[in-house]
Amino acid sequence: MSDNTNPYSAPDTGHVWDDNLRELTNDPPKWWMMGFHASWILVLVYGLIYPSWPMLTTHTKGLTGWTQIGEYKKDLAALDKKRAKYEDQLPGMSAAAILADDELKNYVVRSAKVLFGDNCAACHGTGGQGNPDFPVLADDDWLYGGDINTIVTSITNGRNGIMTAHGGTLSEAQINELADAVMAGNPTSTPLFASKGCTACHGADGKGSNLFGSANLTDGIWRFAAKDQRASVVYTITHGVNFPSDPQTRNAIMPKFGGTKLTETDIKKLAVYVHALGGGQ
Ligand code: HEC
Ligand code: HEC
Repeated sequence: MSDNTNPYSAPDTGHVWDDNLRELTNDPPKWWMMGFHASWILVLVYGLIYPSWPMLTTHTKGLTGWTQIGEYKKDLAALDKKRAKYEDQLPGMSAAAILADDELKNYVVRSAKVLFGDNCAACHGTGGQGNPDFPVLADDDWLYGGDINTIVTSITNGRNGIMTAHGGTLSEAQINELADAVMAGNPTSTPLFASKGCTACHGADGKGSNLFGSANLTDGIWRFAAKDQRASVVYTITHGVNFPSDPQTRNAIMPKFGGTKLTETDIKKLAVYVHALGGGQ
């Protein structure tokens, strides 16, 4: 054992290890003490202001009465108030009037996205980009018409475009000749187009008619798009569309949303939404 007196100014705890490792009672550094005091003061202040300390059956409520659910409800009420300003006007307005009012239109386009997702996207795609056999709503190629009132009618009453099946009345060679002319974007180049009655629905120029929802056959935009487009055209000419007596006919039914499925206001919203997808007229 060497000399065991404490050579330092801080008091000694009396603990000595390995002869000369001495435990003193120095104060912690100042910066550390400041941090320590700041922490407990913060805990106290927080505990005073916010709900925090658990008790047997409840908890302290804090001086401000703030709660997370309360804040959420307040935000929601503010949102409802904002919405009501628009929603209250919609029932009394026509779709065309809504479309003409920029502020209302913006509101409707934003809020109808969910409606479209729930009711329409399964067939027409999330952005109205269409699906095989279901028409694109986001372009300016319309079967029935892209003005706002026609869109309302399409949604309210549904659509059911009918094309006669020609498999029984035309020879294979005639169907091929018509298909080639359609593929070339020039259906009237064959006299069959008029003589076999295609013009009755697709028009003398082959550009289609909104009255029948018959496709424009000259624009290279395909209603029934397919990898093998020519085969698709041959199929349509052979079996027709929604043609009851041909079991292989194409199915192209737009369901009716008027009546019990959607309210008039929802239909107006959707019409404005579809119109704004890009192709409204
Ligand atoms: C079950 C599938 C299906 C659903 C669901 C559906 N559609 Fe359609 N929609 C169609 C088909 C098929 C057509 C084409 C009908 C035809 O060719 O006669 C069509 C046509 C349309 C047209 C006419 C397009 C044009 O070029 O003139 C509009 C507008 C339209 N749909 C909007 C909607 C909206 C809005 C909804 C949601 C409320 C909706 N559709 C839901 C299948 C559907
Ligand atoms: C009774 C009316 C009617 C007649 C007649 C008719 N079509 Fe159509 N055709 C339609 C309708 C309606 C559509 C679109 C159906 C839909 O989109 O639901 C269509 C679609 C088509 C398509 C599909 C186009 C595409 O973009 O995929 C082709 C091709 C076509 N018709 C060719 C003909 C030819 C060729 C004839 C004559 C042999 C003919 N049609 C006669 C009503 C008719």
